[in-house]
Amino acid sequence: CGIVGFTGRENALPILIKGLYSLEYRGYDSAGIAAFTRDGLRVVKTQGRIASLEEKIQSEGGLSCTCGIGHTRWATHGEPSDRNSHPHLGGRDGQGKVAVVHNGIIENYKELRERLEAHGYTFCSETDTETVAHLVDYLHTGKQEDLAKTVLAAVQRIRGSYALGVVSMDNPEEIVAARRDNPLIIGLGQGENMIASDLTAIIGRTRDYIILDDNEVAIIRPDSVAVMNEFGDVVEKAVQTVTWDMSAAEKGGYQHFMLKEIMEQPKAVADTVNPRIQNNAVVFEENGLTDERLREIENIHIVGCGSALHAGMVGKRVIEAMCRIHCTAEVASEFRYENPIIGKKDLCIVISQSGETADTLAAMRLAKQAGAFTVAIVNVVSSTIAREADGVLYTWAGPEISVATTKAYSSQLSALYLISVKIARTRGLISIGDERALCAELQRLPACIEKALESQQDMQRISTRYANRPSVFFLGRGLDYAAALEASLKLKEISYIHSEAYAAGELKHGTISLIEEGTLVVALATQPALFEKTVSNIREVVSRGAVVVLVTTDDFTGDESVCQHIIRLPKCLYEFSASLSIIPMQLLAYYIAVERNCDVDKPRNLAKSVTVE
Ligand code: G6P
Repeated sequence: CGIVGFTGRENALPILIKGLYSLEYRGYDSAGIAAFTRDGLRVVKTQGRIASLEEKIQSEGGLSCTCGIGHTRWATHGEPSDRNSHPHLGGRDGQGKVAVVHNGIIENYKELRERLEAHGYTFCSETDTETVAHLVDYLHTGKQEDLAKTVLAAVQRIRGSYALGVVSMDNPEEIVAARRDNPLIIGLGQGENMIASDLTAIIGRTRDYIILDDNEVAIIRPDSVAVMNEFGDVVEKAVQTVTWDMSAAEKGGYQHFMLKEIMEQPKAVADTVNPRIQNNAVVFEENGLTDERLREIENIHIVGCGSALHAGMVGKRVIEAMCRIHCTAEVASEFRYENPIIGKKDLCIVISQSGETADTLAAMRLAKQAGAFTVAIVNVVSSTIAREADGVLYTWAGPEISVATTKAYSSQLSALYLISVKIARTRGLISIGDERALCAELQRLPACIEKALESQQDMQRISTRYANRPSVFFLGRGLDYAAALEASLKLKEISYIHSEAYAAGELKHGTISLIEEGTLVVALATQPALFEKTVSNIREVVSRGAVVVLVTTDDFTGDESVCQHIIRLPKCLYEFSASLSIIPMQLLAYYIAVERNCDVDKPRNLAKSVTVE
């Protein structure tokens, strides 16, 4: 979900709406705002996109205010509906004195709800958030305490996670914000201040911001911002400045953010790799991966969700091949509940574009607690995972807006290659000369990706032809299997076509029964040592009627006649090949989704940043 709030002198409505648009990628089941108008506290909310909210506000005669909060929702408790949209009002007898927007999950909401109902509160929604609104009202009513103290008292009765924006009729210029395990920042302006889930919502107005930490509560007024800790003591907060440009978060002539971000991959990879290579060697300055530590590592655990996990699965294969250290890549939500065996000399690599994914964060905390050294590969600077990890390796991909990740994924791969080369050299598994050659290959990757992007027209053509297939299979072995998983995820995320990724040798053990006349199979084969094996697997599906697109390298020597289409990628070191094979796959997913008129940047049911477990 996305939260935005504004208090100042100008009309807050366009500012809140613009903020919501920039947060829409965090969830778009419904949207709403609460604002102080001349007639008091007004809430307008609706199921659907921000555009529907705008229409609703217009049809209700507009809204003039200088202070308000807004929300765009990704449903957890309660279906997407007008009723379940935020903001939620708190107050007895349907009299909303307090309005709340919330991101996160209130775990004890049932118990709170029962108690509040016993105190005469009527609930209008199925959400966990409404309990917070009534709880704040309950604690506020009849007391002299200010709103912030009340919110502090309320959050102390809450179990779970939250980023909250709260306004009350008694304090028309004030927003109170609180956070635990969900991101919230405060944008600082001249005579105006804002709250937001992330920077994209504030950079149109200010570049200065502070990050609210867990258990803190902030009071935001037009001319002041005060933050207090869980004991109610005022705390000093460091002011940070956004370094990237607004244009980085805009479409720049492309029809969709996704295509723009696909095209930005050479730069994203170069920006991630180049600063870490000095004199033909990998140099890490700030992430705590010292030579001493790297020499001692016993096992490596990589954790992440979605595409970040897929990057980790490539990383696992590269690291094991190059460094001969036992390495696992595990879904964060599984890792945290399976009582993993973590040693004090283990390294835990945590991968997350947003740096806020709840399960990934929890998995990292677990590894840290068990004594492992945690290093985070994160794109969003100062995000929670970045701040809590023992060391951070930022991917310098810039803001990624499309829900389906492309450039952040590619940057994650590069970061993993850097770690792998560094470990291999430090442990004496490769020579200085080998390291030099590997670094040169890493620095050549952006140019190779550029070449791989030349497949754009072919992929567009193939996409148009096969966009109506009900199901697509992706096959590969080793690194190609890890890449196939990501290729398949991209396609199903944005085109809604059913798709499966299979280790090429495994298909015949059951899934091949799904192959019939005309089924589209995309085979990835970039590993020379496995060319022949994969070609055999292609024959297996072709003889059952499949149509095959083969993605391979320039030096493919196998029998081409088995497939309908062949995409050739420039030659790179085979360890890094997943960085190239994914490019035509992203384009395939993109053009199929466009052909099917799907909402490419905001696929149904998905959100960019998932801060619930
Ligand atoms: C969500 C997104 C996925 C993403 C995953 C992990 O589910 O829809 O595209 O890969 O979260 O996100 P992270 O920010 O941790 O990389």
